[in-house]
Amino acid sequence: MKDNKFSQKLRPRRMRITPAIRSMIRETELSVKDFIYPIFVVAGKNVMQEIPSMPDCYRISVDNAVKLAKEIWQLGILGVEVFGLPEYKDEIGSSAWDMDSPVQKAIAAIKQAVPEMAVIGDVCLCQYTTHGHCGKLCGHYVDNDATLELLQKVAVSQAKAGADIVAPSDMMDGRVAAIRDALDDNGYINTSIMSYAVKYASGYYGPFRDAADSTPSFGDRRAYQMDPANALEAIKEVDLDLQEGADMIIVKPALAYLDIVRRVREHMNLPLITYNVSGEYAMVKAAAKNGWIDEKRIVLETLLSMKRAGSDSIITYHAIDAAKWLKEIE
Ligand code: PBG
Ligand code: ZN
Repeated sequence: MKDNKFSQKLRPRRMRITPAIRSMIRETELSVKDFIYPIFVVAGKNVMQEIPSMPDCYRISVDNAVKLAKEIWQLGILGVEVFGLPEYKDEIGSSAWDMDSPVQKAIAAIKQAVPEMAVIGDVCLCQYTTHGHCGKLCGHYVDNDATLELLQKVAVSQAKAGADIVAPSDMMDGRVAAIRDALDDNGYINTSIMSYAVKYASGYYGPFRDAADSTPSFGDRRAYQMDPANALEAIKEVDLDLQEGADMIIVKPALAYLDIVRRVREHMNLPLITYNVSGEYAMVKAAAKNGWIDEKRIVLETLLSMKRAGSDSIITYHAIDAAKWLKEIE
């Protein structure tokens, strides 16, 4: 009909012209159902203390954790991961398996108030040890197998409190098998293990360590967390956890490791969760506070990128805001 100078045959832009067409052909969808919200619980009543390096995130007492769980359930968020600040610390982190510690109490109280919610316990020792390392020390070295016995106690105590899922984040070898055995021996055959299979030694955990008071008192975690330079090793860690009986796999951090998320996604068929960690959150909040970025747009785009890379769910401090923003868009 018309003689265009250039061929009109190969024109992807035709599929971007209207919002309806764009929606119709969209490959990846972000949903409130994708989010797991991490909370930090402390002893006491009516405590709500903002974490300086994590604006809009709070250390909260169990009563407030229950309130919060109800609120986020109303928003459509299906899961919380519970981290704790204990009332006492010692060399081996024994408050981590104390049934009177904030984590165990919060797990039980949330399960009672919102039984349908998926409650996940973080299994580690660094918040509970005086030295801030993720296990039992032998000199300056974290003793792997001595730590396994302690992690078993932590996992069982959280299952006993009512956790649906336990999430070991310590990076000891063999801990998934050890925890599975301990759960089974104690009758918790339906408690799942969400393993931090791929956890890098990362600078992005900085704000979390302020929040959870878990900075190591000497050295760092490079002798047990993974070297950020290694990708093949991620596959090895995943394979081991699959053999040991993990039910779900976490890759952490998220944003600087989306290549790893994609590789792991293509390698295995268990549910894959990415952890959008505290440093990633803090950078966005700081830039947004300065008016340098559009927070809503950046957060939704970032979370979408994690899904596109292959995550089924995302553990994120942005969950509440993102849930509200997704409702606006609907
Ligand atoms: C502790 C633990 C860490 C995070 C979750 N569990 C930090 C660490 O290894 O120091 C990081 C979470 C975050 O940065 O948001 N085992
Ligand atoms: Zn730890």
